[in-house]
Amino acid sequence: MTESDFIPSENYKVLTQGSVTYQSPSNIALVKYWGKHGEQLPQNPSISFTLSNCHTTTTLSYKKATSATGEIEFDVLLDGKSEPDFKPKIAKFFERIEKYIPFVKEYSYVIDTANSFPHSSGIASSASGMSALALCLMEIERQSNPDMTPAYFLQKASFLARLGSGSACRSLDGPLVVWGNHNEISNSSDIFGTSYNSNVHDNFKNYQDTILLVDKGEKQVSSTVGHGLMHGHAFAKARFSQAHDNLSELMRVFEAGDVDAFIKLVESEALTLHAMMMTSHPYFILMKPKTLEIINEIWDYRQQTGSKVCFTLDAGANVHVLYPENEKHSVQDFIATKLSKFCQNGHYINDFVGNGAKKL
Ligand code: DP6
Repeated sequence: MTESDFIPSENYKVLTQGSVTYQSPSNIALVKYWGKHGEQLPQNPSISFTLSNCHTTTTLSYKKATSATGEIEFDVLLDGKSEPDFKPKIAKFFERIEKYIPFVKEYSYVIDTANSFPHSSGIASSASGMSALALCLMEIERQSNPDMTPAYFLQKASFLARLGSGSACRSLDGPLVVWGNHNEISNSSDIFGTSYNSNVHDNFKNYQDTILLVDKGEKQVSSTVGHGLMHGHAFAKARFSQAHDNLSELMRVFEAGDVDAFIKLVESEALTLHAMMMTSHPYFILMKPKTLEIINEIWDYRQQTGSKVCFTLDAGANVHVLYPENEKHSVQDFIATKLSKFCQNGHYINDFVGNGAKKL
């Protein structure tokens, strides 16, 4: 599939009005996307676990536009209240998708969105939010083209979500989604995310992810700016090629059920992501002292108990604690007694791997 496969040729039936609701989850990358080029194309392949409890629910209401300005009119509500801060990113998204959704200008919209996690948690809502919005738009497209296959629907929704936020294209499906061409994954693509279909050992089924909310503040650096800093970065080339190798290695790890090798790879990816930020110009430290305390506690606990718990990080201070389902009780005990004290107001979220977005 190429971009042109997503440019529809048929004429659209413009509806008077309607509304559609989707719930889409967040995801956590194991091999990270960091660096992009062209129009939202990744510099390297990435793979993520889709989550369950952390999700965004979006109702898109649309009605035939009356405005003659050519501008798309829309309002964004978060938990029922107007949220103008979200508008620039969504306006950019509408601009990027116009070629692929020609009817987009025919309507005005109200985008009514709610997150299952607190807005100020530092958990990025762009992946879950943009994927939910892309799915709602595809549902409108489906009304004009009811014969579209479910596979095309999903691929195009992921394609559109990517134009809103790269990692969003990995939030539609589950439990593992790959985005970016990789020579050992035949259906992988730079332009949309695809469900990872190779063998995955039972050790990795129902993996658990507890998100420790270390810093709920505004992101110091937006991911878009962060990605930009990979242009001209001294270590960029080596990093992009390492991500390909790490994904190859992870494929073997998944097949063999080798949780020890999984831990090494996933923690190294997280630290490499932060190392890239620390060595860019300008440079950033997005971890907080408590992030490091948590990492050290996890390493101690692993050494003392033989647990298979490990961590990964996003572009921020929060820590994702990953562990197999059979350690759910012991690790959640450990988190409550040893790690919750490092979280802002003791706040953390127990989540687990899920199967993607759904229509409500
Ligand atoms: C560190 O998808 O938020 O979470 O494409 O600019 O919206 P944009 O960036 P975004 O970047 C996410 C980066 C990451 C790693 C990952 O999810 O792979």
